[in-house]
Amino acid sequence: MEDFNGKVAFITGGASGAGLGQAKVFGGAGCKVVIADIRQDHLDQAAAQLKERGIAVHPIRLDITDRAAFARAADETERVFGPVQLLFNTAGVSIFGPLERATYDDYDWIMGVNFGGVVNGMQSFVPRMIAHGQGGHIVNTASLGAFMAGSGPGIYCASKFAVHGLTMAMRDALAKYDIGVSVLCPANIKTNIAESIKTRPAHLSHSGYTVDEDEIRALHEIYSQGMEPEELARHVMAAIRVNQFYILPYPEAREALEKVFQQVLDVIPPLETDPEGIAKRATAMARYIAARQVQDKAKYG
Ligand SMILES: NC(=O)c1ccc[n+]([C@@H]2O[C@H](COP(=O)([O-])OP(=O)(O)OC[C@H]3O[C@@H](n4cnc5c(N)ncnc54)[C@H](O)[C@@H]3O)[C@@H](O)[C@H]2O)c1
Repeated sequence: MEDFNGKVAFITGGASGAGLGQAKVFGGAGCKVVIADIRQDHLDQAAAQLKERGIAVHPIRLDITDRAAFARAADETERVFGPVQLLFNTAGVSIFGPLERATYDDYDWIMGVNFGGVVNGMQSFVPRMIAHGQGGHIVNTASLGAFMAGSGPGIYCASKFAVHGLTMAMRDALAKYDIGVSVLCPANIKTNIAESIKTRPAHLSHSGYTVDEDEIRALHEIYSQGMEPEELARHVMAAIRVNQFYILPYPEAREALEKVFQQVLDVIPPLETDPEGIAKRATAMARYIAARQVQDKAKYG
């Protein structure tokens, strides 16, 4: 996608941080933006800021884990602005603590918002984007934590690995509909994510972690040094223009990623250790793929 003027963008988490940066940058380029967020205070402030810039904005209070509400938000968006060409699944939450202390509620909240929210965004909008036939682009926000994990942010990283995988698969699925798909993998952004706990729902409140004001203050300090959300959104815009899959505009990520990938490459045996096995497996796979393509064509057209 080259020209953003007049396009409709739906942004989850659009009322704060990275999502609000996207609303400002894409709105500034002429998009009509829907900001969908669970926090009404964030929505009110963000809508006022965007209107002040002359951006066409429509705020919707939405919990992205609520599938029926997501469908209603998609209907409302089409009623107000028309069909969506740009979908940003940006909303996310984080919590840190020793992984072995995590409860089912910790898993359900983080996976539900970070991965489930992206699934719900795709399920709500992909069929509509295919049906309108105008093409478009989807950006799912993962994290540098989509490539590496440690105990502290363990559930968060697992949710972002899942977003990474789903987004890669969806890029393959949607290429034939002229819908580009990218995964945004930030390292540190200047946002309000330290306050995530404020959006944790009561029915998932049994936590193995203790998040107190000191921790929130310390996290705020780290994120206060992060990339400005609008700067990050400009990287996103540049990536969409060239239909780039990975959006990872952090030079400091290189060393850590090299280590991760090298660790994987180092355990792969050389080709000459198993030529017969390689040939056998490649033939079987090629046969399966060819047969599968014929079957899929008959089943799905
Ligand atoms: N801040 C960072 O350093 C950083 C780094 C890597 C990835 N990320 C990712 O960036 C994305 C945006 O986060 P941010 O840093 O801008 O944080 P943020 O807290 O400033 O913004 C996230 C917004 O999502 C909303 N939200 C939370 N739960 C929701 C729900 N269930 N339904 C709808 N909205 C909900 C919040 O109310 C908030 O307005 C997240 O996916 C996060 O994981 C952030």
